[in-house]
Amino acid sequence: MERERSDGIFCTAKYPIFCHKTPSRGPCWFRSLETVADQFAVKRVTAPDIKNRKGGAPIVALTAYHAHTARIIDPYVDFLLVGDSLGMVMHGYETTVPVPLELMIMHAQAVVRGSSRALVVVDMPFGSYEESPAIAFRNAARVLKETGCGAIKLEGGVQMADTIRYLTERGIPVMSHIGMTPQAINTIGSFKPRGRYRSEWAAYEADAKAIADAGAFAVVIEALAELLAARITKEIPIPTIGIGASAECDGQILVLEDMLGLSPRVPKFVKEYAQIGAGIEAAVKAFATEVRTRAFPTADYTYPMCDEVGEVTKKTKMTGS
Ligand code: KIV
Repeated sequence: MERERSDGIFCTAKYPIFCHKTPSRGPCWFRSLETVADQFAVKRVTAPDIKNRKGGAPIVALTAYHAHTARIIDPYVDFLLVGDSLGMVMHGYETTVPVPLELMIMHAQAVVRGSSRALVVVDMPFGSYEESPAIAFRNAARVLKETGCGAIKLEGGVQMADTIRYLTERGIPVMSHIGMTPQAINTIGSFKPRGRYRSEWAAYEADAKAIADAGAFAVVIEALAELLAARITKEIPIPTIGIGASAECDGQILVLEDMLGLSPRVPKFVKEYAQIGAGIEAAVKAFATEVRTRAFPTADYTYPMCDEVGEVTKKTKMTGS
């Protein structure tokens, strides 16, 4: 829509900042809208925003691997995690160990494109950060530069503290991940919960303290006994994000496909909020039946012919021929 400016020029720009007609001919009266537009400009949640939520309203997070799911869930979450669980959920690997960095970058780019307000955190895959802080920095910097995400996540406690310090001191916000750490599957042997014996507690508490001291802005606590997760949440100054941990954590995260009922097997800690898998199966069955019986597509879903003066004829519309 064109609107008249004070100097008689018509402006079609939605906001004056984009006024394309005569940028050199004095102020556009739509300029007053610039400040309005600026006020409404959406700013993404940042890693420091998440850190400042310690002890406040619970932080909501979900995994996202694609632009389309990111778009749907972005308004409802504080951060989106491009988790390396995508290797198992999306790509059929048995563990997260084989996931390459390039795959994480490709999915993270899609999630950043599909979202506009939640912080996007990207998992560093196994083998991309453990060797040395310098290698971790090189790969994490690549993730930030190539995807536009706002933070990375890596697994490990005490043993990763030096790396976390190295990254955070050089401009890379780090979320850590302790408790059951799936990338260590080949040394820990199973995805079983941890910390169910008091004798195990000190090690997990030491992990949590070490990564908080090293500068991590938050920590995911996975499959850790409820009491221990609650205790760690009280002990450290950064937000704890629970997954199979405790309602006392500062936030909660689930794998989107798990909570939607899309995964064939889920751990005890997953609550299925929908049964999308069953819905997909029903839809696909109906489609297959209708194709096989030629019930689909009907005239509503096909393009009728026009007669020579450009009008759609009833006959062609009805018969599709
Ligand atoms: O990879 C992932 O999805 C995760 C979540 C389970 C926290 O790390």
